Amino acid sequence: MKKQIQPSISAPVRDLLIQTARDAAANAYCPYSRYPVGAAVLTMDGQIYSGCNVENISYGLSMCAERTALFKAVGDGCRTFAALAVAGGDKRPASPCGACRQVLAELCPPTLPVFITRLKKGGGVTSTTLGELLPLSFSSLA
Ligand code: THU
Repeated sequence: MKKQIQPSISAPVRDLLIQTARDAAANAYCPYSRYPVGAAVLTMDGQIYSGCNVENISYGLSMCAERTALFKAVGDGCRTFAALAVAGGDKRPASPCGACRQVLAELCPPTLPVFITRLKKGGGVTSTTLGELLPLSFSSLA
């Protein structure tokens, strides 16, 4: 991966990213867990892609919101990312699962800002980075 400068995210852009993640959760297909999650990734060229969790009766085939959003962006040709927001959970915010952290680490730098918040407004936003979520990640076969 080429080195990239991680831009700082302004409060309005962060809020828009979070709101987009919350809105995406409305599309969640989660008849088994009844736990909707939404995610939104901001690309380096300023686009926002959103995603929701999509479950399957064969539970292991279910897809998380974060990967849905990221894969939509990658499928559209995007390769560089500036931030991620995740909205899920009632009392506690949904934090990206281990699988999503590894997939994010494939395409995003450890400095990627990650905003984690509950589904509904209120309760605050946890601001972290991919590197904090997945330290010492496996990133090279060399
Ligand atoms: N889920 C996500 O989409 N993202 C997360 O960060 C945590 C979990 C989904 C997977 C499953 O559809 C449901 O939430 C319950 O685990």
